[in-house]
Amino acid sequence: MALRKLVAGNWKMHGLSADLAEAKAIAEQSKDYPGVDVALCVPSILIERAARALPDFTIGAQDVHHAEKGAHTGCISVQMLHDAGASLTIVGHSERREAQRESDEEVKSKATAALSCGLAVILCVGESLEVRERGAAVETVVGQLDGSLPHVLSSETELAIAYEPIWAIGTGKIPTVDEIAEMHSAIRQRLRERFGADGDQVRILYGGSVKASNAVEIFAIADVDGALVGGASLKATDFIPIVAAAA
Ligand code: G3P
Repeated sequence: MALRKLVAGNWKMHGLSADLAEAKAIAEQSKDYPGVDVALCVPSILIERAARALPDFTIGAQDVHHAEKGAHTGCISVQMLHDAGASLTIVGHSERREAQRESDEEVKSKATAALSCGLAVILCVGESLEVRERGAAVETVVGQLDGSLPHVLSSETELAIAYEPIWAIGTGKIPTVDEIAEMHSAIRQRLRERFGADGDQVRILYGGSVKASNAVEIFAIADVDGALVGGASLKATDFIPIVAAAA
Protein backbone atom coordinates (compact mmCIF):
# COMPACT_ATOMS: atom_id res chain seq x y z
CA MET A 1 0.00 0.00 0.00
CA ALA A 2 1.33 3.47 -0.86
CA LEU A 3 2.49 5.51 2.11
CA ARG A 4 1.27 9.06 2.73
CA LYS A 5 3.73 11.40 1.10
CA LEU A 6 5.92 13.70 3.14
CA VAL A 7 7.18 16.91 1.55
CA ALA A 8 9.73 18.57 3.81
CA GLY A 9 11.51 21.83 3.15
CA ASN A 10 15.09 22.31 4.30
CA TRP A 11 15.77 26.02 4.58
CA LYS A 12 19.47 25.38 5.29
CA MET A 13 21.15 28.66 6.36
CA HIS A 14 18.37 30.84 4.96
CA GLY A 15 15.72 32.68 6.90
CA LEU A 16 15.43 35.73 9.14
CA SER A 17 12.51 36.84 11.30
CA ALA A 18 10.86 38.47 8.29
CA ASP A 19 10.81 35.12 6.50
CA LEU A 20 8.44 33.66 9.08
CA ALA A 21 5.71 35.23 6.95
CA GLU A 22 6.73 32.86 4.18
CA ALA A 23 6.60 29.88 6.57
CA LYS A 24 3.13 31.03 7.55
CA ALA A 25 2.04 31.20 3.92
CA ILE A 26 3.37 27.68 3.35
CA ALA A 27 1.57 26.36 6.44
CA GLU A 28 -1.70 28.01 5.43
CA GLN A 29 -1.62 26.87 1.82
CA SER A 30 -0.60 23.33 2.80
CA LYS A 31 -4.03 22.95 4.38
CA ASP A 32 -5.42 22.67 0.86
CA TYR A 33 -3.63 19.30 0.62
CA PRO A 34 -4.71 17.32 3.68
CA GLY A 35 -3.51 14.05 2.15
CA VAL A 36 0.12 15.19 2.24
CA ASP A 37 2.36 15.64 5.30
CA VAL A 38 4.25 18.91 5.02
CA ALA A 39 7.11 20.14 7.20
CA LEU A 40 9.68 22.93 7.23
CA CYS A 41 13.14 22.45 8.74
CA VAL A 42 14.18 25.98 9.59
CA PRO A 43 17.41 27.35 11.10
CA SER A 44 17.49 26.45 14.80
CA ILE A 45 17.21 30.06 15.89
CA LEU A 46 13.80 30.32 14.17
CA ILE A 47 12.35 27.05 15.48
CA GLU A 48 10.69 28.40 18.60
CA ARG A 49 9.12 31.39 16.89
CA ALA A 50 7.94 29.30 13.94
CA ALA A 51 6.49 26.62 16.20
CA ARG A 52 4.66 29.20 18.35
CA ALA A 53 3.30 31.00 15.31
CA LEU A 54 2.25 27.79 13.56
CA PRO A 55 1.11 25.38 16.26
CA ASP A 56 -0.65 23.00 13.84
CA PHE A 57 2.24 22.77 11.41
CA THR A 58 5.33 20.55 11.59
CA ILE A 59 8.49 22.51 12.28
CA GLY A 60 11.76 20.62 12.17
CA ALA A 61 15.45 21.15 12.80
CA GLN A 62 18.33 20.54 10.41
CA ASP A 63 20.66 18.78 12.84
CA VAL A 64 20.95 17.79 16.49
CA HIS A 65 23.63 16.66 18.93
CA HIS A 66 23.45 13.09 20.20
CA ALA A 67 24.13 13.94 23.86
CA GLU A 68 21.41 14.97 26.28
CA LYS A 69 23.46 17.84 27.72
CA GLY A 70 27.01 18.74 28.62
CA ALA A 71 30.12 20.51 27.46
CA HIS A 72 29.34 20.82 23.74
CA THR A 73 29.72 24.48 22.89
CA GLY A 74 27.41 25.64 20.14
CA CYS A 75 25.43 22.39 19.96
CA ILE A 76 21.71 21.76 20.47
CA SER A 77 20.25 18.66 22.10
CA VAL A 78 17.15 16.70 21.20
CA GLN A 79 15.51 17.86 24.42
CA MET A 80 16.17 21.49 23.47
CA LEU A 81 14.60 21.00 20.06
CA HIS A 82 11.60 19.35 21.65
CA ASP A 83 11.32 22.15 24.17
CA ALA A 84 11.46 24.75 21.38
CA GLY A 85 8.58 23.06 19.57
CA ALA A 86 10.31 21.03 16.86
CA SER A 87 8.79 17.66 16.10
CA LEU A 88 11.35 16.33 13.66
CA THR A 89 14.98 16.71 12.71
CA ILE A 90 17.16 16.03 9.71
CA VAL A 91 20.34 14.07 10.45
CA GLY A 92 23.28 13.19 8.22
CA HIS A 93 22.74 15.80 5.52
CA SER A 94 25.63 15.57 3.05
CA GLU A 95 26.52 19.21 3.72
CA ARG A 96 27.21 18.21 7.34
CA ARG A 97 28.79 14.86 6.47
CA GLU A 98 31.21 16.82 4.25
CA ALA A 99 31.80 20.14 6.04
CA GLN A 100 31.61 18.83 9.60
CA ARG A 101 33.07 15.44 8.69
CA GLU A 102 30.18 13.60 10.30
CA SER A 103 30.63 9.84 10.21
CA ASP A 104 27.92 7.22 9.80
CA GLU A 105 28.44 6.33 13.46
CA GLU A 106 27.77 9.93 14.51
CA VAL A 107 24.68 10.10 12.33
CA LYS A 108 23.43 6.87 13.88
CA SER A 109 23.89 8.32 17.40
CA LYS A 110 21.96 11.42 16.45
CA ALA A 111 19.12 9.44 14.87
CA THR A 112 18.93 7.14 17.89
CA ALA A 113 18.89 10.06 20.35
CA ALA A 114 16.18 11.88 18.42
CA LEU A 115 13.92 8.86 17.96
CA SER A 116 14.23 7.88 21.61
CA CYS A 117 12.96 11.33 22.60
CA GLY A 118 10.00 11.19 20.22
CA LEU A 119 11.38 13.41 17.46
CA ALA A 120 10.76 12.16 13.94
CA VAL A 121 13.96 11.78 11.92
CA ILE A 122 14.83 12.34 8.27
CA LEU A 123 18.14 10.51 7.80
CA CYS A 124 20.01 11.55 4.66
CA VAL A 125 22.20 9.40 2.43
CA GLY A 126 23.60 10.01 -1.03
CA GLU A 127 26.57 9.49 -3.29
CA SER A 128 29.06 11.89 -4.89
CA LEU A 129 29.37 12.29 -8.65
CA GLU A 130 32.67 10.41 -8.61
CA VAL A 131 31.01 7.43 -6.92
CA ARG A 132 28.07 7.51 -9.35
CA GLU A 133 30.42 7.65 -12.34
CA ARG A 134 32.38 4.64 -11.22
CA GLY A 135 29.19 2.62 -10.83
CA ALA A 136 29.31 2.33 -7.03
CA ALA A 137 26.28 4.48 -6.12
CA VAL A 138 23.99 1.73 -4.80
CA GLU A 139 26.62 -0.05 -2.74
CA THR A 140 27.84 3.27 -1.29
CA VAL A 141 24.36 4.43 -0.28
CA VAL A 142 23.42 1.03 1.16
CA GLY A 143 26.72 1.09 3.07
CA GLN A 144 25.85 4.54 4.48
CA LEU A 145 22.48 3.17 5.56
CA ASP A 146 24.09 0.17 7.24
CA GLY A 147 26.33 2.51 9.19
CA SER A 148 23.75 5.18 10.07
CA LEU A 149 20.46 3.39 10.72
CA PRO A 150 19.35 3.13 14.33
CA HIS A 151 19.24 -0.42 15.70
CA VAL A 152 15.53 -0.59 16.32
CA LEU A 153 12.32 1.07 15.24
CA SER A 154 9.20 1.15 17.34
CA SER A 155 5.64 2.05 16.52
CA GLU A 156 6.08 5.34 18.41
CA THR A 157 9.03 6.42 16.34
CA GLU A 158 8.98 7.84 12.88
CA LEU A 159 11.95 7.47 10.60
CA ALA A 160 12.25 8.61 6.99
CA ILE A 161 15.24 8.19 4.70
CA ALA A 162 16.14 10.95 2.25
CA TYR A 163 18.13 9.85 -0.77
CA GLU A 164 20.00 12.95 -1.90
CA PRO A 165 22.65 12.42 -4.57
CA ILE A 166 25.23 15.09 -3.71
CA TRP A 167 25.71 16.04 -7.34
CA ALA A 168 21.99 16.84 -7.66
CA ILE A 169 21.83 19.24 -4.71
CA GLY A 170 21.33 22.81 -5.84
CA THR A 171 22.63 22.03 -9.32
CA GLY A 172 19.42 21.63 -11.32
CA LYS A 173 20.63 18.13 -12.34
CA ILE A 174 18.62 15.13 -11.28
CA PRO A 175 19.14 11.39 -11.75
CA THR A 176 17.05 9.60 -14.35
CA VAL A 177 13.78 7.99 -13.34
CA ASP A 178 15.47 4.58 -13.58
CA GLU A 179 18.37 5.68 -11.36
CA ILE A 180 15.98 7.00 -8.69
CA ALA A 181 13.86 3.83 -8.92
CA GLU A 182 16.91 1.58 -8.61
CA MET A 183 18.20 3.43 -5.54
CA HIS A 184 14.86 3.66 -3.75
CA SER A 185 14.23 -0.02 -4.36
CA ALA A 186 17.68 -0.90 -2.94
CA ILE A 187 16.98 1.27 0.12
CA ARG A 188 13.57 -0.38 0.61
CA GLN A 189 15.14 -3.81 0.39
CA ARG A 190 17.73 -2.92 3.03
CA LEU A 191 15.07 -1.45 5.32
CA ARG A 192 13.11 -4.72 5.07
CA GLU A 193 16.23 -6.73 5.82
CA ARG A 194 16.92 -4.59 8.88
CA PHE A 195 13.44 -4.00 10.26
CA GLY A 196 11.22 -6.68 8.71
CA ALA A 197 7.67 -5.51 7.96
CA ASP A 198 8.35 -2.22 9.81
CA GLY A 199 10.79 -1.37 7.02
CA ASP A 200 7.80 -0.97 4.70
CA GLN A 201 6.48 1.88 6.87
CA VAL A 202 9.66 3.98 6.56
CA ARG A 203 9.16 6.72 4.01
CA ILE A 204 11.90 7.15 1.42
CA LEU A 205 12.17 10.73 0.19
CA TYR A 206 14.05 11.95 -2.84
CA GLY A 207 16.06 15.18 -2.51
CA GLY A 208 18.15 17.17 -4.99
CA SER A 209 16.83 19.91 -7.31
CA VAL A 210 13.18 19.01 -6.78
CA LYS A 211 10.96 21.66 -8.37
CA ALA A 212 7.37 22.03 -9.47
CA SER A 213 8.46 21.10 -12.99
CA ASN A 214 9.88 17.67 -12.07
CA ALA A 215 7.90 16.77 -8.94
CA VAL A 216 5.02 14.94 -10.65
CA GLU A 217 7.45 12.65 -12.47
CA ILE A 218 9.54 12.01 -9.34
CA PHE A 219 6.53 11.27 -7.13
CA ALA A 220 5.26 8.71 -9.65
CA ILE A 221 8.35 6.52 -9.15
CA ALA A 222 7.88 3.39 -7.03
CA ASP A 223 9.10 3.77 -3.44
CA VAL A 224 9.33 7.56 -3.67
CA ASP A 225 7.29 8.56 -0.64
CA GLY A 226 7.95 12.27 -0.74
CA ALA A 227 10.71 14.83 -1.12
CA LEU A 228 13.26 16.81 0.84
CA VAL A 229 13.39 20.18 -0.88
CA GLY A 230 16.06 22.86 -0.49
CA GLY A 231 15.98 25.98 -2.66
CA ALA A 232 12.39 25.52 -3.79
CA SER A 233 11.12 25.45 -0.18
CA LEU A 234 11.99 29.05 0.58
CA LYS A 235 8.95 30.57 -1.10
CA ALA A 236 5.37 29.37 -0.94
CA THR A 237 5.00 30.06 -4.66
CA ASP A 238 7.73 27.48 -5.41
CA PHE A 239 7.01 25.01 -2.63
CA ILE A 240 3.24 24.66 -2.66
CA PRO A 241 3.13 23.37 -6.27
CA ILE A 242 5.49 20.58 -5.12
CA VAL A 243 3.09 19.77 -2.26
CA ALA A 244 0.26 19.79 -4.80
CA ALA A 245 2.18 17.33 -6.99
CA ALA A 246 2.34 14.93 -4.05
CA ALA A 247 -1.41 15.08 -3.40
O1 G3P B 1 18.02 18.86 1.86
C1 G3P B 1 17.56 19.33 0.63
C2 G3P B 1 18.61 19.48 -0.35
O2 G3P B 1 19.91 19.17 -0.05
C3 G3P B 1 18.25 19.62 -1.75
O3 G3P B 1 18.52 20.96 -2.06
O4 G3P B 1 18.25 23.03 -3.28
O5 G3P B 1 18.72 20.90 -4.51
O6 G3P B 1 16.49 21.24 -3.47
P1 G3P B 1 17.98 21.57 -3.42
